[in-house]
Amino acid sequence: MGVLCMWDGLDVPVVAAPMAGGASTPELVAAVNAAGGLGFLAGGYLSVAELTGQISRLRTLTDRPFGVNLFVPDPDTADPAAIDAYRRRLRPEAERLGVEPGEPRWDDDEYPVKLAALFANPVAVVGFTFGCPAPADIATLHRAGSHVVVTVTTVEEARAAADAGADTLCVQGAEAGGHQGSFQDTYERTTPLSELLAEVRQAVRVPLLAAGGIADGAAVRRVLCGGAAAAQMGTAFLRTPESGARQAHKDALADPRFTRTAVTRAFSGRRARGLVNRFLTEHDGIAPSGYPRVHHMTAPIRAAAARAGDADTLHLWAGACYATAAERPAAEVVGAIAEAL
Ligand SMILES: Cc1cc2nc3c(=O)[nH]c(=O)nc-3n(C[C@H](O)[C@H](O)[C@H](O)COP(=O)(O)O)c2cc1C
Repeated sequence: MGVLCMWDGLDVPVVAAPMAGGASTPELVAAVNAAGGLGFLAGGYLSVAELTGQISRLRTLTDRPFGVNLFVPDPDTADPAAIDAYRRRLRPEAERLGVEPGEPRWDDDEYPVKLAALFANPVAVVGFTFGCPAPADIATLHRAGSHVVVTVTTVEEARAAADAGADTLCVQGAEAGGHQGSFQDTYERTTPLSELLAEVRQAVRVPLLAAGGIADGAAVRRVLCGGAAAAQMGTAFLRTPESGARQAHKDALADPRFTRTAVTRAFSGRRARGLVNRFLTEHDGIAPSGYPRVHHMTAPIRAAAARAGDADTLHLWAGACYATAAERPAAEVVGAIAEAL
């Protein structure tokens, strides 16, 4: 699919970010598509059957192009001693909620199988985060007719993704909610979106999506002026009725007890931005790098916390713009931006 028709073809230059863990639903993607934007399904954490089921359902809801996002597997570089120590530290959290910490296993999130499913049943856009896919896989997606987007958080990553054949880069600034899409979890990315967008624009010639802290028309206008083809927004859609985010998460975004966001490895072993709650405050300084091992360890604790409505123990992913995320239909979020442009 040509680059120009992909983003210039949108009625509203808004992309609904893939949000793994339940927030992205076929209904959210379809609503954003119908309002003139482009939505992404989040393939991360899902089984292949769940992902293909969501794609099939979405095809009954929209005939417009949509994206599917995958996690590129992290190398298994975690320090076993640090993982063990963190597991011991988590035990009281788990006991309090009547569960055991999960097994700290490494897995590839079924990446090769999900990729093969997308080769066999192509979608218009395939996006990647946590790394750059192999050039041969990008070439296979191109042959299948898919447009390839790679998330980048530095100029070096942008150059590597463009060299590997990515059609579009999603430039993710430090304000972004959820995981930093960096190719490696080595250091916290602190460059604000406006600065990173300008740097990446100088370095590569492919179209850019801009992500991080965008929630209104003025912010969309700023990134379009900064050279982005469209704005990718996540947090702004979290409280919509079409979002599958947990109720405790939706409520926390509007709860005055939570007053800021921070980047932490405490929940997953990979840096992610969320509302500052008790769990984040208590464990942030200690949590080791080790995705997805830490993610699997905390999963039963987070699931039990969600069942109990315990927002102080949940991962509450949120971008810096979270206070303006409103409880209103996704079409209204997109419509308000269209009106402001
Ligand atoms: C709850 C949540 C889950 C996310 N999951 C993914 C994901 O699965 N894949 C991905 O590429 N980005 C993911 N992101 C990051 C978004 O793609 C995007 O960079 C971010 O939402 C932009 O910042 P904003 O939330 O301030 O709009 C997620 C963000 C949030 C808030």
